[in-house]
Amino acid sequence: MRLVDGTFLLSLLLLTLRLPGPEAVRSFGDGTHQSDAAMDLNSSNFDSVLKESPANFAIVEFFAHWCPACRNYKPHYEKVARLFNGPDAVHPGIVLMVRVDCAMKINMKLCNRFSVGYYPMLLWGPPIKFVAGKWTPKQDKSEIQSIENGRTADLLLDWINKKIGSSFSFDDEKYENENSLSKNASDSEQQIARAIYDVEEATALAFDIIIQHKMIKPSNQAPLIKFLQLLVAHHPSKRCRRGIADLLVNFDDLWPSGPLPVSSAESSILQEEEILKSYPICGKDVPRHYWIFCRGSKNDTRGVSCGLWILFHSLSVRVRDGESQLLFMAICDFVQNFFVCDDCRRHFYEMSSRISLPFNTSRDLSIWLWRAHNQVNERLMKEEKDLGTGDPIFPKVTWPPKQLCPSCYVSSSRKSSGNKQIDWNQDEVYKFLIRYYGTTLVSSYKDATLSSNRNDESYDMTSSTNSVAVPVGAALAIALASCTFGALACFWRAQQKSRKYLHQLHSLKDI
Ligand SMILES: Cc1cc2nc3c(=O)[nH]c(=O)nc-3n(C[C@H](O)[C@H](O)[C@H](O)COP(=O)(O)OP(=O)(O)OC[C@H]3O[C@@H](n4cnc5c(N)ncnc54)[C@H](O)[C@@H]3O)c2cc1C
Ligand SMILES: *[C@@H]1O[C@H](CO)[C@@H](O)[C@H](O)[C@H]1NC(C)=O
Ligand SMILES: *[C@@H]1O[C@H](CO)[C@@H](O)[C@H](O)[C@H]1NC(C)=O
Ligand SMILES: *[C@@H]1O[C@H](CO)[C@@H](O)[C@H](O)[C@H]1NC(C)=O
Ligand SMILES: *[C@@H]1O[C@H](CO)[C@@H](O)[C@H](O)[C@H]1NC(C)=O
Repeated sequence: MRLVDGTFLLSLLLLTLRLPGPEAVRSFGDGTHQSDAAMDLNSSNFDSVLKESPANFAIVEFFAHWCPACRNYKPHYEKVARLFNGPDAVHPGIVLMVRVDCAMKINMKLCNRFSVGYYPMLLWGPPIKFVAGKWTPKQDKSEIQSIENGRTADLLLDWINKKIGSSFSFDDEKYENENSLSKNASDSEQQIARAIYDVEEATALAFDIIIQHKMIKPSNQAPLIKFLQLLVAHHPSKRCRRGIADLLVNFDDLWPSGPLPVSSAESSILQEEEILKSYPICGKDVPRHYWIFCRGSKNDTRGVSCGLWILFHSLSVRVRDGESQLLFMAICDFVQNFFVCDDCRRHFYEMSSRISLPFNTSRDLSIWLWRAHNQVNERLMKEEKDLGTGDPIFPKVTWPPKQLCPSCYVSSSRKSSGNKQIDWNQDEVYKFLIRYYGTTLVSSYKDATLSSNRNDESYDMTSSTNSVAVPVGAALAIALASCTFGALACFWRAQQKSRKYLHQLHSLKDI
């Protein structure tokens, strides 16, 4: 059986994951139970939702459910929210739109914090600014401001467009990516910034699949731990780094490696569902069950595979030279053991077995991975065309296309012969990869931090993984020697267990 495009993986997913219902279902007003695009928040989740959002901006609508004007405003607000929020958003990840019902007692303090004086009232600002934030009408310097003229959907969208210099419209097409989008490089780079959502999604889903299918065996625990250790140090999403660290610390308890008597194993091990609940490895909002950058125009295209590629590329530009061979092996082992797309596995294995010398720079690894991915693209280009199984809106391309990185192409290489071989400028390609997968990918997190209170550590989403001194290399060198599988995990566990659980995340910073 041919397994094109990881569809096997996806169908497994569809079969096995319990899809939670739409998050914000409201029954008020319109009498329907349609799910809303704007999220209903209350004081119990307001701060956490805004804090976790990688969106660059947020709009908060303060309303009261008894207010007739608010009812009439709702469709307008929803129309704009549908552009930016939720599974069907046309421009996901840019503006988070939420609402708070000030007529609910639980929200009284929250509404007071923002000096809500009329309904509906709209505030605009970076999401992080709302967290534990305040606003009063007279604050000139505040990064939160009120939207005075957003009374209709059109007016509100105009206001947003003016504010961020965009030209969004209600007619915009749902599927755009860096290849199909305008030939404007800066717009394209905006796209990859949103892929951080998908890297989180792919990480969480891959983990879900591993757990649900009980894929962790004594024989593959060691490679998995190594991969997780690299992720703790270099995953582009801080949320995932935290969650994975948490899992790793408890790994030996969850999957005792020694031969245990069956009865005691059964009694002590958490069930799959419980593991997933107790260790949401990229935060409890993830998986969200939809894709943003990696969204296909058909149900079963793109998604997980796309997110995993981006994860691998982003890791390759993040590791230090000394870790490049480790990462190479960790990725190969991960694909081999846990990527349940058989064809992918086999092809990837073929490509990686052609490597004879160990990688000694992260540059070499990044370039190899880029080439490998292009080889896959080229093969699939043909295959998908023949079989018609590709995503019509996202055909495979040799990447990066010229409009994304003109300097990656050696100019003047237009030979009129049928020779379609591209003359790459590898230095430029590498520079591009570093910028694309290194900085731009995490730039939405960065924005949030730059404009937030730098003294407050808990909002620090930037900490470049390169600057976190994680002696992964050193730890891995002895990883197999002690504590069954991971010395680092062992060390963490010992350390964490002697501390209060709450301080764990802080202490991880210093490791
Ligand atoms: C390790 C691995 C092996 C796979 N092997 C197979 C296989 O053998 N057969 C099969 O049918 N499917 C395979 N897949 C799936 C396939 O490669 C695609 O991931 C899938 O078809 C979805 O395609 P996509 O359009 O989302 O783009 P993807 O190929 O998933 O790419 C995702 C994004 O990465 C960027 N990108 C594209 N090319 C490159 C590059 N060369 N370097 C850096 N970035 C790039 C682009 O922004 C693109 O949108 C594999 C996936 C993985 C992770
Ligand atoms: C607040 O929102 C959360 C999450 O949606 C919900 O579980 C909770 O019931 C809400 N609280 C009230 C008082 O409505
Ligand atoms: C690309 O977009 C930026 C910002 O939106 C703009 O300043 C620039 O002029 C655009 N370039 C082209 C070629 O359209
Ligand atoms: C795609 O998903 C939607 C919603 O989940 C469903 O209604 C539709 O039938 C699916 N289409 C295909 C081709 O599976
Ligand atoms: C890296 O390995 C290559 C051989 O693969 C070798 O020629 C080169 O000197 C090595 N570079 C460093 C910095 O060790």
